[in-house]
Amino acid sequence: MTVETTPAASQASANYKDFWNAKARTATGAMIAVDGSADEDVLRLTGAYSRRQVELALQLQPTDRVFEIGCGVGRIGREIAPNVAAWHGLDISDNMVAVARERLAAYPNVSTSTLSRSHLDPLADDSMDKGYCVAVFIHMDKEDFLLYLQDVARVLVPGGLFYFDTWNLAHPVGWRRYHYEVMQASRTDPRERKDVARNQFCVPEEVALYACKAGLEIVLTLTDSPWVQMVVRKPGDGPAADLSAHAAEIAYTPLWTELFDNTLDVLLEGRHPLAMIADLEHDTRGPEIAMYRAWLRALWKENPQTWAGAPLPPGVSA
Ligand SMILES: C[S@@+](CC[C@H](N)C(=O)[O-])C[C@H]1O[C@@H](n2cnc3c(N)ncnc32)[C@H](O)[C@@H]1O
Repeated sequence: MTVETTPAASQASANYKDFWNAKARTATGAMIAVDGSADEDVLRLTGAYSRRQVELALQLQPTDRVFEIGCGVGRIGREIAPNVAAWHGLDISDNMVAVARERLAAYPNVSTSTLSRSHLDPLADDSMDKGYCVAVFIHMDKEDFLLYLQDVARVLVPGGLFYFDTWNLAHPVGWRRYHYEVMQASRTDPRERKDVARNQFCVPEEVALYACKAGLEIVLTLTDSPWVQMVVRKPGDGPAADLSAHAAEIAYTPLWTELFDNTLDVLLEGRHPLAMIADLEHDTRGPEIAMYRAWLRALWKENPQTWAGAPLPPGVSA
């Protein structure tokens, strides 16, 4: 789950590689940077949730050659690779790629590359059937977002599919997340440049424009959550996949969005994670509950000092 907040301007990085390599100096740091938790079980849990979305969005087949932009530690790749013909993870950070390689070492169909610019240089034209990018375009300037989409159109086979997301400024919870960044920016020294890897936000129309200008056809757009989720297709012969029957399963559910909104109370307003866990104790509305509970518990265990003074409900002890 993407929770990392924009660093203070005084720690600003001038380029993506330095920023993410610093975050991923250790395997633990890398896991926290991609998922907010260094717990392998939690990583597998959130990875499985993302895998289900990616598998349905791309209608993945065992014969597919698949790439991931910004693969991080292979949180999603670990779940996808065993079920496809080939999986290629690409990331701007050498340190992230090193952790991904180790986590996916058991799979002979896995390859990885470190990127040096906003292009998919290691991939040949028309060489990949499917691709995806989760929680990555939110961390780059819009020019780089467009450059990557243009290169996606180069490397996909005609008719190939690509799934990606961005923060959704037009959703109330997306706006809440953005407003936090604005507040943080208002407190920083205006003489300092903003961090290159800070969280960036889009309205759905803007995302659609980038996709079309990159030469991709839009197959599906989902906007009823803090994320804009989109499936695009490289023009080619044959009909586009009809994903309408799977839209509700690809989308972040209303329950996921509610839990994410509540998590912002924990991350941004200082509410104790154990208080939110206690609220969820008898909640059986969906699998998102167990995932958030595990994730919140790991978050608290790794950063107990953050909530040292926060009140806890009666009967709950830290
Ligand atoms: C929040 S993590 C998400 C990782 C992975 N997609 C996941 O969902 O677990 C962001 C990842 O994007 C990578 N990244 C950031 N900027 C990038 C860029 N300009 N080009 C390629 N990768 C980038 C980072 O190194 C990091 O691994």
